[in-house]
Amino acid sequence: MKKMEEYIRCIPDFPEPGIMFRDVTSVLQDAEGLKLAIDSMIKILDGVDFDVVAGTESRGFIFGVPVAYAMGKAFVPVRKKGKLPCETVSEKYALEYGFAEIEMHKDSIKPGQKVVLIDDLIATGGTIEAAIKLVERLGGEVVKIVCLMELAGLEGRRKLKGYDFEAVVTYE
Ligand code: PRP
Ligand code: ADE
Repeated sequence: MKKMEEYIRCIPDFPEPGIMFRDVTSVLQDAEGLKLAIDSMIKILDGVDFDVVAGTESRGFIFGVPVAYAMGKAFVPVRKKGKLPCETVSEKYALEYGFAEIEMHKDSIKPGQKVVLIDDLIATGGTIEAAIKLVERLGGEVVKIVCLMELAGLEGRRKLKGYDFEAVVTYE
């Protein structure tokens, strides 16, 4: 059986020179790779008490929805600015390449709900940090953060001090 990292291809200099792009499409287009990725995330969440999965647009949706569905939980999308139709809270943040702003519907998390954050990858940690701020502004509690990949060299973990974070695959 292949290991998770064997399904993840790396494209140098995409989308900019100097970036090593860790591509999830090579995982998704292989039925065994997709199953291993989702099952690995579910395994990390075994025994975690939570109410809802929140996933960040767009790659966080790909992994967040099947995990929520398989574990009998709801899914809340954390979307890029301007996509959600009802009242929102929003946060700006910096990425490995560029800047962005994400939003959540104000009624998407009820005060006191326990939230698991899911994304494909943590690089600088800006996206996850912004998502944590949104969940907390809505009164939710982030009980676990799960990513398929961690780019440890970019030290995103430093932004998550005090939070329970785990990745399936870590690149040094
Ligand atoms: C990528 C990735 C994470 C984020 C990680 O998303 O899917 O969400 O960057 O980077 P960070 O830790 O430095 O914040 P991107 O914003 O490129 O959007 P996409 O999922 O729509 O491709
Ligand atoms: N998002 C931010 N940095 C990335 C990287 N190096 N590979 C894939 N997605 C990313």
